[in-house]
Amino acid sequence: MYKILVSDKLSEKGLNILKENKEFKVDVKTGLKPEELKSIIAGYDALLVRSSTKVTKEIIDASSLKVIGRAGVGLDNVDLEAATNKGIIVMNSPSGNTISTAEHTMSLMLSMSRNIAVADKSMKSGEWNRSKFTGVELYNKTLGIVGLGRIGQAVAKRAMSFGMKVIAYDPFISKEAAEKLGIELVELNKLFSDSDYITFHIPLTEETKDLISAKQIPLLKKGVRIINCARGGIVNEEDLAKAVEEGKISGVALDVYVKEPPKDLALAKFDNVVLTPHLGASTEEAQVNVAVEIVEQVRDALLGLEIRNAANFPSVDTQTYKTLQPMFNLAEKMGQLMGQLAEGRINGVDVIYSGEISKFDTTALTMSVMKGLLTPVLKDTVNFINAISLAKERSIKVREEKSSESEDFTSLIILKVKTEKDKYLVAGTLLTKKDPRIVKINGFYVEAIPQGNMLIIYNLDKAGIIGNLGTLLGKYNINIAGMTFGRLNKGGEAITVLNIDSAPSKELLDKIKKLKYIEEVRAIKL
Ligand code: NAD
Ligand code: MLT
Repeated sequence: MYKILVSDKLSEKGLNILKENKEFKVDVKTGLKPEELKSIIAGYDALLVRSSTKVTKEIIDASSLKVIGRAGVGLDNVDLEAATNKGIIVMNSPSGNTISTAEHTMSLMLSMSRNIAVADKSMKSGEWNRSKFTGVELYNKTLGIVGLGRIGQAVAKRAMSFGMKVIAYDPFISKEAAEKLGIELVELNKLFSDSDYITFHIPLTEETKDLISAKQIPLLKKGVRIINCARGGIVNEEDLAKAVEEGKISGVALDVYVKEPPKDLALAKFDNVVLTPHLGASTEEAQVNVAVEIVEQVRDALLGLEIRNAANFPSVDTQTYKTLQPMFNLAEKMGQLMGQLAEGRINGVDVIYSGEISKFDTTALTMSVMKGLLTPVLKDTVNFINAISLAKERSIKVREEKSSESEDFTSLIILKVKTEKDKYLVAGTLLTKKDPRIVKINGFYVEAIPQGNMLIIYNLDKAGIIGNLGTLLGKYNINIAGMTFGRLNKGGEAITVLNIDSAPSKELLDKIKKLKYIEEVRAIKL
C-alpha cells in the first residue's frame, strides 16, 4: 500500500480517485508548520501540494518520497534539484487552470476599464456617482499579449470576440503559428508603443524580470493599461506606481506580486488600479481540473504505469533510465546551454548521436535535449513528456540522426540549431562514462563542464586576454572555477569558456564586452 500525504487544500473530486483505490492510504493534513511536515514526512511515498507547502531540501532529505505532485503550474515552492538528487519524481499539472486564468485576465481588463471595483465600493458606502466612473470600451483597442502560450492564446481568443485588435510578442512562436490564430507577431518595443492594453503570460526568468520598469515606461503609449496575471516581478511595482501617479499609465491590474502577500504596495492607493490576491486559478473548475490531473498522474507513477508531466524525469523504463542516466543529464544541459546561446526564433533542431550511444533508443535523450532547450523559455510548463510536442506547436522541426562512427569519443551528442538569425552547434560527451563535457561550441573545440554559472566569450586569439578577464572578474569578487579555450587558427577567432562561482552582473558583462579583443560575451546558467 502506498501512503500519500496531501498538505494543501485539494478538491475532493481529485482526492476521491485515490481514496477509492485500495492501493492507497491518503492523509490530508493542511496548514502544517515546516518542522511538523519534516517530522512526519518519512512515512510517505507521495506528497501532494498546491502552492502553500514549501517543499524544501530539508523536507526532501528527511523523506523517502517517490513522487511529489503539484496541483497547478508553478514549481517555485519545490526544490527541484534536491528532489532530483534524491531520485524523487516531481510532477505538475500545467493545463488545468488555463481557461480560469484567461477569464481572470479578461475580468481584470473589464473591471479596470469600467471601474467596477471602485464603483462597487462607492455604492456600498451609500454613494450614487455616475459621472465619476465613466470608463472606456475594449472594442477597437489594441491588446498587446506578451507570451503566446496556453493562457496568452486563450486571452487572445476572448479579446478578439470583444472586437480588440490583438498583437503579440513571443520570440519562441513562429509567425505562421501566430497567423493561424489571427494574431500579428511584433517586436517587444512595437508592442509597447502600439498597445492600449498590455497583458503578460510568460514565466518569470532572469530575462523577463522587470520587463516593464522605469526604462521601458517612456516607450509605452500614453494612457496604456497593464495587466499581470503571470508572475510577480515581470512588471516593476514601484515604477508602475510612479507612472500611474504621473498619468502616463491609465490603469494597472495585478493578480501576482513580487512578494505574496505584498507589503506596503504603492499601487494600492490608486482608484485606477485593480488588485486580486493570486486568484487566476481559483475557480471551482480549475481546482477540480488540476487536482484530478495531478492525482491521476501521481497514481499512475506510483503504480509504475506511466510518468506524465514530470519536471525532472524522462518517461523510460527503469533499466534504460539507469544505463543512460548520465547521458540524460548531458543531453538536458546541452539543450539548456543551446537555449541560452542561440539568438532568434528557432526553426529547426538536429540531434545527432554517434558512437556507442547510437545503439540505444535515443528518443528520451532527444526529449531531454528539447526539455533543456525550451526550459529557459517555458520554465515549469515544459517537461520531458511534452517538450517535443511543444516544439511542434512552435513549428520547430526536430530531427534525430544516428551514426555508429564517432572518431574521437566513445559516444558523442551533436546538437545543431537553426534560428532565423544564425546556425549554432554544441557537442557533448561523457568523460569516464559519467562526467559531462561540452567538446565543441560552434566551430571551436573546447572541454567545458556544463554546470552552474558560465561565461562564453568570443574573442580574438591575442595575448593578454586571460589576464584582463581575471583582473576584471577579481574586481567583482567572482572566482573562476574552470577555464577552457578554443581557436580556429593562431591569432584568429577564438572562444573562451569560463565556469564561475557566482552570477555576473549586467554591469560586469558590459565591462567584459569593452575589453580589448573581446567580441561578445554570453552569461549562461545551467
Ligand atoms: P506557457 O508555457 O503555455 O506559455 C508561456 C509563453 O511565454 C510561451 O509561449 C513562451 O514562448 C513565452 N515566453 C517565454 N519567455 C518569453 C519572453 N521573454 N518574451 C515573450 N514570450 C516569452 O505558460 P502558460 O500556461 O500560458 O502560463 C503563463 C504564465 O502564467 C506562467 O508564468 C504561469 O506560472 C502563470 N500562471 C498564473 C496563474 C495565476 O494564478 N495567476 C495561473 C496559471 C498560470
Ligand atoms: C499556478 O502556478 O498554477 C498558479 O499560479 C496558481 C497556483 O498557484 O495554484
